[in-house]
Amino acid sequence: MSKENYLFRGDFITARPDPGELSVYEDSYALVCDGVLEEITQVKPQIGDDVVEIDCKGKLIIPAFSDVHLHAVQYVTTGLGYDKELLPWLTDYTFPEEARFADHAYASRVFTDLVYDLWSGGTLHSSIFSSIHTDATVLLAELLADAGLSAFVGKVNMDRNGGVDLEETTEESMSETMRYLDLMAPFEDRGVKPILTPRFAPSCTPELMRWLGELSAEKGLFVQSHANENLGEIDWVKGLFPESRDYMSVYQDVDLLPKGRTVMAHCIYNTDEELEMMRERDVIVAHCPSSNANIASGIMPTAQMIDKGIKVGLGSDIGGGNRLFMGHHVSAAMKHSRLRWALTDRTSRVISFAEAFWMGTAAGGSFFGKTGAFMPGYSFDALVIDDCRLSPYRPLDVLERLQRFIFVGDDRLIVSRYRKGELLPEPNCMVK
Ligand code: GUN
Ligand code: FE
Repeated sequence: MSKENYLFRGDFITARPDPGELSVYEDSYALVCDGVLEEITQVKPQIGDDVVEIDCKGKLIIPAFSDVHLHAVQYVTTGLGYDKELLPWLTDYTFPEEARFADHAYASRVFTDLVYDLWSGGTLHSSIFSSIHTDATVLLAELLADAGLSAFVGKVNMDRNGGVDLEETTEESMSETMRYLDLMAPFEDRGVKPILTPRFAPSCTPELMRWLGELSAEKGLFVQSHANENLGEIDWVKGLFPESRDYMSVYQDVDLLPKGRTVMAHCIYNTDEELEMMRERDVIVAHCPSSNANIASGIMPTAQMIDKGIKVGLGSDIGGGNRLFMGHHVSAAMKHSRLRWALTDRTSRVISFAEAFWMGTAAGGSFFGKTGAFMPGYSFDALVIDDCRLSPYRPLDVLERLQRFIFVGDDRLIVSRYRKGELLPEPNCMVK
């Protein structure tokens, strides 16, 4: 079906594919054809009758957010147990909650709300962990597709250390993964894709991980997992995989870092060799500052990783992180970088606001294709923000308005969301 062409007017601000300064186009025009941005110009271009004008004069227009790491099945427990560290938090709060997603009605209620809230916060792209339950995972994919959101949705693989209610046998994990891949096929054209999801090395036997690595290579599948989040976790991995040089090698040794198709969450404590491996494999790091603080995991050296050429996106890590709204994580990334500088090495570099915004939009967006920045040839995935409530006292420039929105604003200021140039209507909240 051919799409309408549109001319948007407003105050545009965007990161570019590489970290650096933001580009500002005050009171400008964006021509969008077949869902793709052609150009942004200060002077109104000549347009034919076939172009629909969308006048957002005076409003901010920014690229949609990308959340490259969250757990849909932890939406209910978000905020609980933040007086624990990772491993007891997983056993006491997270695993028992995830076991509930065997119940279709429960999954349906929670996922309906989550999808609504993703839409509301302008997170139009996300890389999501579901649970081990195939049917719940496919339901989540369907709800995302119905809402017009783009996503990777992973059925989690866990064939050890999950306790009685959240563990599969190795054979079950393999056969359910194949069933999940079959059931996901209809959603691919609608922007929702499968992603192999070994939870983290301690949850998977070497046999299962080797099988997943082969599957990824054979079918060109994407992979998401966790690494180097917590010191106790890292020690555990050393004990479980004595033959591997380090945590990242556990994945690399079984082909689970497919080049340009991998997102790894946390990555706080990396050796130089691991950083080099991540750069070489084009791994996107999901930096999860809110979660890293809540469960006392640590402060990632973000600027130093970016300087080594590693692409760093942002993850809400719901329910380790306590907000879905990505502006919260852009600001948390800056706070963490600044605290690390203040507490550890004052000769080091901190990330800029532009870099933090790049992480939440362009860097994360690159995992989903040509999106996350207003560049010619990129999908026009955008949020329109009515920020007049945030600057009623004196005029602010466009960059200042974006900073106010990120640090002080929230979903309530987003008045419309566009994906591939089309308005995304409010999702249906009726539970399936
Ligand atoms: N490592 C393995 N599973 C999880 C999880 O659910 N959350 C976080 N933060 N880390 C993990
Ligand atoms: Fe996580």
